[in-house]
Amino acid sequence: MIPLAVPNLSGNERAYLNECIDTTFVSSVGEFVNRLEKDAAVATGAKGVVATSAGTTALHAALLVLGVRPGDLVIVPSFTFIASANAVRHANADPWFFDIDPSSWCIDLKQVRKELEEHCVIRRGMTYHRATGRRVTAMMPVYTLGNMPIMDEARAICDEWHLALLADAACAIGSTYKGRQLAELADLSAISLNGNKTVTAGGGGLIVGIDDGLLDEVRHLTTTARVWPNYDFDRVGYNYRLTNLQAAVAVAQLERLDEFVSRKREVRAAYNNAFANLEGIGTFPEPNWCESACWFSGVVLDDKTHTNTFVKELNEAGIGAKAFWKPVHLQEPYANSLTADDLSVTEALWSRVVTLPCSTGISDPEIATVIRTTRALLKGGDSQNED
Ligand SMILES: Cc1ncc(COP(=O)(O)O)c(C=O)c1O
Repeated sequence: MIPLAVPNLSGNERAYLNECIDTTFVSSVGEFVNRLEKDAAVATGAKGVVATSAGTTALHAALLVLGVRPGDLVIVPSFTFIASANAVRHANADPWFFDIDPSSWCIDLKQVRKELEEHCVIRRGMTYHRATGRRVTAMMPVYTLGNMPIMDEARAICDEWHLALLADAACAIGSTYKGRQLAELADLSAISLNGNKTVTAGGGGLIVGIDDGLLDEVRHLTTTARVWPNYDFDRVGYNYRLTNLQAAVAVAQLERLDEFVSRKREVRAAYNNAFANLEGIGTFPEPNWCESACWFSGVVLDDKTHTNTFVKELNEAGIGAKAFWKPVHLQEPYANSLTADDLSVTEALWSRVVTLPCSTGISDPEIATVIRTTRALLKGGDSQNED
């Protein structure tokens, strides 16, 4: 089987893990945590980085620090992994779901602006949703596949409507926007170091930003709100710290960020070139305003090809393909959520997306096999006889 996305652990991971064991620094204090935060700051253009136990906990802590309070609404695209919405619920707020722009699969900012104008009002410097009377405190664009929405417009909307801007950059390490670094695009951004991400720690997250005050607060909140050196705590904090063991793996991974992102982009280019002119098949979007790190790649089926059957056939042929995110407003825990008036792009797209093998360690012959097999199945042919 050519796997969908497996970690590439052939660098210094083992040596650094051994160092943790030899020095007994396995927990949340240790040199690798410090090193990871420094290296990640360089890689994302951040003034500071706080390493966390997961992308989800990074999002949760960032929402709290950015002022999201119980009962608030947070603007989120429905086409995302459920963790984006879960983090909002963990903050006792609720997501307000929006559609996506077909050219990036990121939140539709035209729709956000329109719905804010139609449904919201600003009172004493705060935005309220008229029908529910609830405060709208933040917008959380998701950098789908490493793509970004037009972040100048996201910033303009947030400034006009007094919203905090938190980027769910879970899959976007290595992406830049009009040549600008990831960390400077939002008030805070949250990256995931989960096992299927381009850079992994096994599990973990990073909160990156350029505002020292916000970053200090995030660090405090994620380390149990402890006031050192004694056992004093000034609020109910969270134990969201990454361990030195996980950071050791992430440091080794970050050393190869450029190489990993280049390979991800090569895989994307190979699939998009191969499937560009195939009738009834779409390719993954490549917006020209950002330099995507191309986290996942694949194809978009037409309405007639059944995704589950197609994925099963690919799996049987040894290709680790998979369906992609089911929109969050269609998930049971979010069934009664507030949504934008129209989610038609999301609803028409999601069930037709098939992700194809895109590990950074994939070989050229493996890519060729994926292309050959996929083309053959799309044409209803026999993969052995395709060139
Ligand atoms: C868009 C998105 N947001 C949030 C998360 C949550 O990150 P984690 O799994 O590290 O908690 C993920 C992925 O796992 C994701 O893909």
